[in-house]
Amino acid sequence: MSGKKNVDLLVGAQWGDEGKGKVVDMLGSDVDVFVRFQGGANAGHTVISDGQKVVFHLLPSGMLYSGKLCVLGNGLVIDPEQFLAETNELFQRGQDKARLAVSPHAHVVMPYHRMLDKLQEEARGKGRKIGTTGRGIGPCYVDKYSRSGLRIEDLIDPDVLRERLTYILEEKNQIFTKLYNQKPLPFDEVYEPARKWGEAIAPYVDDIRAILRKAVDEGQHVLLEGAQAALLDIDHGTYPYVTSSSTSAAGAFTGTGLAPNDLTRVIAVVKAYTTRVGEGAFPTEDFEEAGEKLRANGGEFGATTGRPRRCGWLDIPALKYSMELNGADVIALTKLDVLTGMGGIKVCVAYEKDGEKISTWPTDYRVLDNLKPVYETLPGWDDDITNCKTFEELPANAQSYVKYIEEKLKTPVMLIGVGADRNQTINRGM
Ligand code: IMP
Repeated sequence: MSGKKNVDLLVGAQWGDEGKGKVVDMLGSDVDVFVRFQGGANAGHTVISDGQKVVFHLLPSGMLYSGKLCVLGNGLVIDPEQFLAETNELFQRGQDKARLAVSPHAHVVMPYHRMLDKLQEEARGKGRKIGTTGRGIGPCYVDKYSRSGLRIEDLIDPDVLRERLTYILEEKNQIFTKLYNQKPLPFDEVYEPARKWGEAIAPYVDDIRAILRKAVDEGQHVLLEGAQAALLDIDHGTYPYVTSSSTSAAGAFTGTGLAPNDLTRVIAVVKAYTTRVGEGAFPTEDFEEAGEKLRANGGEFGATTGRPRRCGWLDIPALKYSMELNGADVIALTKLDVLTGMGGIKVCVAYEKDGEKISTWPTDYRVLDNLKPVYETLPGWDDDITNCKTFEELPANAQSYVKYIEEKLKTPVMLIGVGADRNQTINRGM
């Protein structure tokens, strides 16, 4: 180990589901430490390895590799049941427990958070629903910031858990009974399972900041694995149609305790077209045949909720914004094969609204509504690209599409996904 820092940060550049899991998995053989730093079980990272499909919601995608350290940072909200289900499944496959470390400062998603998530969505009603994953993410982050959350360190200490839960549940039950006309949750029904979760999680709890500090200073290759994506960021995304965490690059520091100058490279994952699950602006959404075709060819159904994803074309102004926000050094372009046989490929280069041309991503949601995209159409290709191993093997029009993206975003495309398997990736020097 050289002692030279080697820390990659991987972020989604659109609205999630860019195929980050596959990119992490693909880079994985060279990585020593995999880290998740924000979000929770709302994520769904699908990895197909040797023909086997594995979906991670909470654990870093690197868990499929043997002998590597995987870390859940303090910025996460951890659903203990999901955590235990995912770890058990992996350990049954023969993975080693010693490789997993969980921050004591991560927050715990409790059953009342999931209940509140659903009740709040129902109460928002038609037209105001966010379309959350129902995993309790928003309510858990609310408790974190209002300082009435439970952290993993509280869960593993039965006395502290009892003391804090007594007070927290009293407040939650007021909300359930008075605001939502629901039955109160009996203390023991919440406390007993939580105590057991604490016991089961305790062996994994460690000072992840110190572990990461040491790993970075020793020059180990650390991969910070973003979940969701920049346009769903609580501050910089299409608020209020966002998730509740800092999904863009900045979240990696608050969510781990690493410092900005630890970072050596930012990899932005860009899908070759655009999808979105849930509500909110999506200027390039295609409601016609092309959208249907992208959904069918790309298997665009939510990994967490199974919902059909909204599909449409690449949006250059949105991506430029995303590149700036994340300080992207390189792009991993995923699912290029899905565009095979699509005919002409549309790319949005600007928008029109009320007769006015807008060429940058508007962050005001009032402007974002009803934007008319201005498209350029690039020639498509029909040849199967799923067996291409090098850039030069791609059809000329597929090569031109990649070059077009590089020019528009002023960022090199270093990885190109041409199929679902780990091996179906063109590596241009990552
Ligand atoms: P929440 O994170 O469950 O609160 O959901 C808020 C918004 O983020 C909804 O539009 C979800 O569909 C979206 N979202 C959350 N996680 C993911 C993800 O992993 N991929 C894509 N969209 C997501």
